[in-house]
Amino acid sequence: MALLHILRYPDPRLHKVAERVDRVDDRIRKLIKDMAETMYAAPGIGLAATQVDVHQRVIVIDVSETRDQLRVFVNPERVAISGEAEWEEGCLSVPGVFEKVQRAGKITVRALGADGEPYTLEAEGLLAVCIQHEMDHLEGKVFVEYLSRLKQQRILARIKKQERQTPGPEGRRVVL
Ligand code: NI
Repeated sequence: MALLHILRYPDPRLHKVAERVDRVDDRIRKLIKDMAETMYAAPGIGLAATQVDVHQRVIVIDVSETRDQLRVFVNPERVAISGEAEWEEGCLSVPGVFEKVQRAGKITVRALGADGEPYTLEAEGLLAVCIQHEMDHLEGKVFVEYLSRLKQQRILARIKKQERQTPGPEGRRVVL
């Protein structure tokens, strides 16, 4: 297993649209393991392959307090959505930024598991929000893009300032 480097917003690679996985083979299983390890180490509750610069439809999520209930979504598809939810969201690709985003309150998704078998999941609450956030990553969308242009400009300005304050790679917080 290995920790993967997480792309930081506004890296343009976060805007690539991920491709479907043809087959859950050893390469995809290794990607899932590495993504899970990277998510737990960060620490985060969800990670999309896009964020580690692999543009395939793979998501890992664990919203449990005990951090031992890994969920894997390969080629996730929205079957149904209903209701509304608003959570203060953060993202491993946009460290230090937390903003409220409007989402569906319930979502039904169909996906393949780590074993390559299809399954359907009905989710609500934080899990539903997390699935929507991660599925957006696969479409090349970062949650800050739901915010007003003014808020996005402020976030970009703050990121630029942080970069100026910590010049050189040794001054940066390294996720690897
Ligand atoms: Ni994210």
